[in-house]
Amino acid sequence: MAQKTGLKKTAKIKIGVLYGGRSGEHDVSLCSAASVFSALDRNKYEVTAIGIDRDGRWYVQDRPQIISDKDFGRKMALKKKGMWLVNHFEQKNKLHLYDIKNKNKEVVVDVVIPVLHGTFGEDGTLQGLLELAMVPYVGADVTGSAVGMDKDIAKRLLNEAGIPVVPSVTVNKQQWKDNSKIIMKDALAELGLPVFVKPVCTGSSVGVKKVKKKEALAAAMNFAFQFDTRVMIEKAVDCREIECAVLGNENPAGSVLGEIIPKHEFYSYEAKYIDPNGAALNIPAQINKVLSGKIRKIAVEGYMALGCTSMARVDFFLDKKTNKFYLNEINTLPGFTSISMYPKLWEATGLKYSDLLDKLIALAIDRHKKRLEIKTEGI
Ligand SMILES: Nc1ncnc2c1ncn2[C@@H]1O[C@H](COP(=O)(O)OP(=O)(O)O)[C@@H](O)[C@H]1O
Ligand SMILES: [Mg+2]
Repeated sequence: MAQKTGLKKTAKIKIGVLYGGRSGEHDVSLCSAASVFSALDRNKYEVTAIGIDRDGRWYVQDRPQIISDKDFGRKMALKKKGMWLVNHFEQKNKLHLYDIKNKNKEVVVDVVIPVLHGTFGEDGTLQGLLELAMVPYVGADVTGSAVGMDKDIAKRLLNEAGIPVVPSVTVNKQQWKDNSKIIMKDALAELGLPVFVKPVCTGSSVGVKKVKKKEALAAAMNFAFQFDTRVMIEKAVDCREIECAVLGNENPAGSVLGEIIPKHEFYSYEAKYIDPNGAALNIPAQINKVLSGKIRKIAVEGYMALGCTSMARVDFFLDKKTNKFYLNEINTLPGFTSISMYPKLWEATGLKYSDLLDKLIALAIDRHKKRLEIKTEGI
């Protein structure tokens, strides 16, 4: 009892778990959210589940419900009840949500955990909204998120930092329309075959194709252009796929490494989400100590080169023959179900799922505090 001991009872931190969202990874997000929502320590946190439907509307869940899911075992239900608006002027550094049909229904959030993957969740747009609202949130900030999502710009920054990336060529829709023949000729001369063709800003292998014959390149390009206005042609590496979980703001750390072993020709959308046996996860990855130490170090360097904070999963290609490795991409809001690679890697490194969430919340608050110290008046 607070009065008897003379100790002041500290208020619980109010967490808003955002989930669902407008991207193709909506369903994966529902599954990640079920794990996050159940693992948050209720002695420390008051937790509100806030579902975002496919059109972008936000719904505070009255009675959050976890239901069964055919792929991941369980997911957060998303009930579309009420008409919820975000009000960020009510109180500094907090997010208020209220139902305009019933103004007495109001929810206050101290820290947001965006359990959202892909466009409008992982790409800096949501992060911009949260910055405007001045509320602390988990995950990379606007810049880190946007750069992490853009495979072309990310590669240029990694290159500049001396981090190995796979050779590639990026073209926009107009360039492709005007010069497709020359683009293909030059790309094949530079990269050889096979190549991978991928939209610059998608995830989940959406729009990605492996091209083995030059006759198939134009069709793969046109296919990828359905999903983005820029497309990358990349030299194919006969590789193992190695991942590292990075955590931290100014002084990040890298986890032990994991390996994805796709059962398909590559780690396609089907292997990721449709085929229940599409890929195996190996933790820790069977790699010699010296090499895994190098990859861990480069994972942290890559993270910092892209301006990431909070967390990210850093993915590598390791050439099967030469053992040369390349940083493939950085995912700033990686899958977060209890069996997903990111939390599994931390667990194997000694940080269990609920402690990882505590750490992420502390990092969000710390980053926010440092932002507030920035001088904006009296310059
Ligand atoms: N250059 C490449 N060499 C070998 N495999 C590749 C290459 N590019 C992509 N892949 C395969 O395609 C998958 C998806 O590509 P990736 O660049 O990771 O895009 P996404 O953001 O959609 O995950 C990879 O996990 C890998 O299996
Ligand atoms: Mg990938």
